[in-house]
Amino acid sequence: MEKVQFIDPTKLTVSEFHAGIYGTEATIENSLLFDSIKKKGIVTPLIIDPNNFIISGTLRWRIAIELDISVVPVLVCPTPLEAYQIALLNTGRVKPKSVILKEYKLLKPLFEAGKGYRSDVLGEADVLDKSKTLGVSNTTLNRLLQIENGLIELYGSIDADKSQAVLCDLDHEKLAIAPTLKKIRDKIKINKSSKSIPLNPKTGLPSVIGCNQVFKTNYKIYQHDSKDLSFLEDESVQTFCCSPPYWMRRDYGIGECQLGQEKTVEEYCINLALHFDDCKRVLKETGSLFVNLADNISQFQYTLAPYRFAIEMVKRGWMLNDQIIWSRKNPIYTEGKRTVKCDEVIFHFVKTSRFYYDLSWIKDIPTDRTEFYDHEILYGENSETAKPRSFFEFRDNVVKSNIASTQWLSNECSKRKIPFTHSATFPEIIPEICIRSTSKVGDLVCDLFSGTAVSASVSTVLKRRFVGFELNPNYIEQALVRLDNLERTKSNLLLCA
Ligand SMILES: C[S@@+](CC[C@H](N)C(=O)[O-])C[C@H]1O[C@@H](n2cnc3c(N)ncnc32)[C@H](O)[C@@H]1O
Repeated sequence: MEKVQFIDPTKLTVSEFHAGIYGTEATIENSLLFDSIKKKGIVTPLIIDPNNFIISGTLRWRIAIELDISVVPVLVCPTPLEAYQIALLNTGRVKPKSVILKEYKLLKPLFEAGKGYRSDVLGEADVLDKSKTLGVSNTTLNRLLQIENGLIELYGSIDADKSQAVLCDLDHEKLAIAPTLKKIRDKIKINKSSKSIPLNPKTGLPSVIGCNQVFKTNYKIYQHDSKDLSFLEDESVQTFCCSPPYWMRRDYGIGECQLGQEKTVEEYCINLALHFDDCKRVLKETGSLFVNLADNISQFQYTLAPYRFAIEMVKRGWMLNDQIIWSRKNPIYTEGKRTVKCDEVIFHFVKTSRFYYDLSWIKDIPTDRTEFYDHEILYGENSETAKPRSFFEFRDNVVKSNIASTQWLSNECSKRKIPFTHSATFPEIIPEICIRSTSKVGDLVCDLFSGTAVSASVSTVLKRRFVGFELNPNYIEQALVRLDNLERTKSNLLLCA
């Protein structure tokens, strides 16, 4: 390489390789670099080839053009470089995921065919090493490629707005790779199963539902956005028992109205609190609202979503009466330098201090249910003083076990040729404790996110009336299978009705 020269930046051009990755009109995002060049000018020389193509320093060059700088320092490489050689100059850098994908595409023929080997220019070992060239492990690269293919399958093209939004969030580390891939796979699975239900030509809805509601004597499930409760009369519900979608955890494949896909946690918490606004109108003065939520990691830290939501609810006039910690035996793996999060929270909100609360049913729990009695659910030596703990340690009635509680439902669904896709169901005991303690036989219970209808079946067994809302018609199908197997629900309760 020659010594540093000074050259008019308008005489330089972006190399074909960089143009393929960053485009020719890319915006200048790195404002720190922008500010420093504005103050001190360009200190580190750009590297260019003999034909004035920029090999390294494209961003500095763009800033120089933007600031109208008349000359920039350059080092001239004696021979033109090929694409893979330019890529190798960047191996030490941390690259955004979208850049890795673009580099992979441009260099793919070289990796695959073993071409491009120039031992006269570069060391032998590095030239064709995919992982070293792109600066990521093969596992990460494979996952990124699967994400790209998944996005194309979902949105038709990698350039579609929705695909680009996901890539942008990955680039800015708002999303992690493995959970994003899982979400995309889940979404594809849900889409495929939705397509398998024939549509009713009259309503345009899946024919299994026929109309917008499923009516049975004791329960109704509306296929409708639960933000709009105009189906329900004022002061008609005694207990709401709900588990909304958590922020950025799962995409239930139900479009615009679904919660949990908001860009920021602040937006999610406000949206969620807004979602419960109409509950105030339909909840009785003596009524209760239970909301189950969990926190998750975003941008290297906990989002505090449950607590932000609780504060928002209190600001909107709800009273936070109780909070119960549900300790899960089957937690979701938590990445990073931290423990695996095994708890979720169940908030108990009320409108007034005159809410109905009755624990007399506890004394009737048969003593052969001692696993619940002594250690896991209840507190108190004898039935006179026993209360539910604020810490429920169980998993779907199978204490200290990892047996998947939805396996039976999945089997039942497959017998009836219904695809089973829901993976976030309540254990029966949660709605059981909430419903028994805050409502009476004949009262109306509501779940705004009824999913596979765990709260519907518990309410039905406990002789309460039930109204539920669910957007995904597949889940309503699965809910009907659960409701057709109430014996199963009965066997999972602390105490039969
Ligand atoms: C965590 S799951 C609830 C699972 C349910 N508790 C059970 O045991 O099966 C959340 C559910 O809310 C539904 N959902 C999301 N947004 C909704 C909305 N705006 N209106 C009604 N349902 C919605 C999703 O389709 C999903 O089934």
